[in-house]
Amino acid sequence: RHPTVMSLIWLMLLMSGKILPEKPKRSALNQLTRTLLRNYDHGVRPVHNWTSPTTVYIDLILQSILDVDGKTQSITTSIWYRQIWTDEFLVWDPEEFDGITEISLSSDAIWIPDVIVSEFVDEGKSPPIPYVYVNSSGSVKNYRPIQAVLACNLEMYAFPFDKQNCTLTFRSWLHSVKEIDLALWRNADTIANDKREFMNNGEWELLSIPSHYWQYHQGDTDYAHIQFNVLIRRRPLLYVVGLLIPSIFLMLVDVCSFYLPLNSGTRITFKISILLGYTVFRVNLMDELPATAVKTPLIGVFFVVCMALLMLSLAKSILVVKLSHHSEKEVKQMSLSACLLDKYGSVGRYELDPLQEDLVSLNEAQYAPCRLEWLLRELVSLRLTLYQDESEDSAQAEWLALCSKVDRFLFRVYLLVLGLYACTLLLLWTSWSFA
Ligand SMILES: *[C@@H]1O[C@H](CO)[C@@H](O)[C@H](O)[C@H]1NC(C)=O
Ligand SMILES: *[C@@H]1O[C@H](CO)[C@@H](O)[C@H](O)[C@H]1NC(C)=O
Ligand SMILES: *[C@@H]1O[C@H](CO)[C@@H](O)[C@H](O)[C@H]1NC(C)=O
Repeated sequence: RHPTVMSLIWLMLLMSGKILPEKPKRSALNQLTRTLLRNYDHGVRPVHNWTSPTTVYIDLILQSILDVDGKTQSITTSIWYRQIWTDEFLVWDPEEFDGITEISLSSDAIWIPDVIVSEFVDEGKSPPIPYVYVNSSGSVKNYRPIQAVLACNLEMYAFPFDKQNCTLTFRSWLHSVKEIDLALWRNADTIANDKREFMNNGEWELLSIPSHYWQYHQGDTDYAHIQFNVLIRRRPLLYVVGLLIPSIFLMLVDVCSFYLPLNSGTRITFKISILLGYTVFRVNLMDELPATAVKTPLIGVFFVVCMALLMLSLAKSILVVKLSHHSEKEVKQMSLSACLLDKYGSVGRYELDPLQEDLVSLNEAQYAPCRLEWLLRELVSLRLTLYQDESEDSAQAEWLALCSKVDRFLFRVYLLVLGLYACTLLLLWTSWSFA
């Protein structure tokens, strides 16, 4: 009998609840989540009447522009994206659940609209946010940061004074406007001028983000779109200091080299060194320039034209130096005075070659009385040679003066070309930077 008595006592002890562990009471949060998701099907659009569309409210805050790539025509941005919609099945009475008015749910467990940006080329490194926030009236807030690489039609011609207009178009990839409609969460003006979160110390300055709603008609269905135009402007200072000013300095040095003496070779050496320096400078800064396949930025043309001008000035110097050296040998044939001189020379050629000298000495011996005549002749010849030297010198000087005149003329033409070029660029660039 004993075993039955023992088991009875055992049973009584059990019933008293001292041995069985107390069943834990569920927390209000847990209970609410279970109640909400008990019969929830996350694959079904959460509306009671299927004919009513779900409106997704969209908001966007631009945080930074990470990269603008001209070669792939894309920009990398960091955006704070928010979408808010109403889920008619996630509604509860806060009184029943310990006064809870808002709860976070796993985003995998509930229906999420398939709203994406059409310009995405790469999702980038967006951190995954596994939760959404739901309040008691069924409003679901899905906030997430997005780092996105967007296709954008970049216009690089005005670099580094360029502005870019990149669009971000949010749309449901599949659902028509009858199922998913879009709207802006905040006022369009507020979004356009919201620069609080923008990292404003980088290369790009945010001008504004105008936005508008439109519907795309395809077949007999309409698709809702919300388009944001991100308008940004490049800060040119970095490029002006790094690219334009050194270039301008080199051009100025080149202009100064016109004051070197024209008939010495130093000018050419000097110009070649400038050209060399410029080439090195260009090669070093090659990767700073944005690479676009279709249209080269004007600054690229600027560099090439600068180089061409340096070449031109070198060619001009070579020409002038060649001219001035030419004169030393061939001035007699070339200049007018030299022609005259030649004529004189042929009329009275009294140069004494050795044979003539012998003759003269013979004459001297034979005709002593003719000594005076000989002396006279000698004097005339001396005078003529002297005259010849003198005119040669003056011809030389004249020639040099002519050369320096040509030099000055070419210099002026060069300055004019340079000035016109500089003015055009300056006008263009200032108009772009103040546009
Ligand atoms: C759904 O809504 C439409 C109009 O909004 C209404 O005509 C229709 O009767 C509703 N259907 C149901 C099942 O409530
Ligand atoms: C839930 O959130 C929406 C949007 O923020 C708001 O309009 C609504 O009043 C909220 N409901 C409650 C009960 O707080
Ligand atoms: C930006 O581009 C869009 C279309 O791509 C155009 O509608 C809008 O006017 C442009 N904005 C500016 C300021 O150029």
